[in-house]
Amino acid sequence: MFAVVLVGGFGTRLRPLTNDIPKPLLPLGQRTILECLMDQLSRGGVTDAVLALGFKPEPFLAAYPDARCAGVRLHYAIESTPLDTAGAIGFAARFVGLHEQSEAFVVANGDIVCDLSIRELIDQHRVNVQGGAQATIHLTPVDDPSQYGVVHFEASESRPGGRVGGFVEKPSSGTATSRYVNAGTYVFESSVLQHLPGDAPLSVERVTFPLLVERGELFAHPTDDYWLDAGRPDTYVRANLDVVGGVRRERDVAIHPSAQVHVHAAVNDSVVGAGATVADGARVSNSIVFPNATVGARAQVHGCAVLGNVPDGAVVRDTLVGSEGV
Ligand code: GDD
Ligand code: MG
Repeated sequence: MFAVVLVGGFGTRLRPLTNDIPKPLLPLGQRTILECLMDQLSRGGVTDAVLALGFKPEPFLAAYPDARCAGVRLHYAIESTPLDTAGAIGFAARFVGLHEQSEAFVVANGDIVCDLSIRELIDQHRVNVQGGAQATIHLTPVDDPSQYGVVHFEASESRPGGRVGGFVEKPSSGTATSRYVNAGTYVFESSVLQHLPGDAPLSVERVTFPLLVERGELFAHPTDDYWLDAGRPDTYVRANLDVVGGVRRERDVAIHPSAQVHVHAAVNDSVVGAGATVADGARVSNSIVFPNATVGARAQVHGCAVLGNVPDGAVVRDTLVGSEGV
């Protein structure tokens, strides 16, 4: 089975980290966000993923030179101009010939970190198809729906999913009438591609989903398992702490065996990557220290993501430290 993975955003909110590394290749625990996503897709039966890219694939080729990631074969569809979400899906799906097949495929926003079972989503979609579904969308409940796509659906105890009755992308604050939002993973029948020509910018959230709702062809798959969008500084750091903190379905190691943490350094609730150094007397808490990054002697780091170097004695809080250091 194929997946189209949307990774063409600029990662603006995670600068300066994303000046050097595309968002999907940032660390999540001891792996990358992309590797965790591919592992999740692979466990759901996905064999091939086409990455819908807005710019050059070189960093991906360097990270995965044989174009395989977590057992999934990678394909790169590169837009010459940004096509927005629906445009990107249509372009990438055609790039690998999905418009010529009748098989359903998965679509995933590349910045989502979650415990969704892709297999359960696909199984639910197959049931929904019997009731007229062309697409099934993963939903999650959140406290502030206004920054997401807000979704109404028909639910009953015997039928937790059901048909979607309304989709409103980022309604103004206080006007959302459902706590359930678009969680950024979908299954599409290949026939949905008739609405996604892929030759001009188009929004799946503002155009395609409302159209499918009108036709009664969009169905819901709500779950209340772990979910977050790692595209903001606070949620990116949070995603890292959670993957080593025991709140996820699977747990990663906090300190890589090849990292050098001085015996008189203190590391709490943090991730330290391969080849990283935390020097004598340094204190690191609620942070991620990237592979090969350094935290100098007696430095104090809290709530940070460190890609470069924190100098000796520096005190840094709630900051993204890029390759230029602080
Ligand atoms: N290839 C390509 N081209 N990808 C793009 C483009 C584009 O022009 N624009 C955005 N993307 C990718 C981003 O890289 C990201 O993986 C995904 O599309 C979604 O874009 P975001 O910018 O992260 O959107 P969002 O987080 O504000 O909202 C989306 O996600 C929410 C869940 O986190 C929407 O899908 C909401 O409805 C949803 O609730
Ligand atoms: Mg996002």
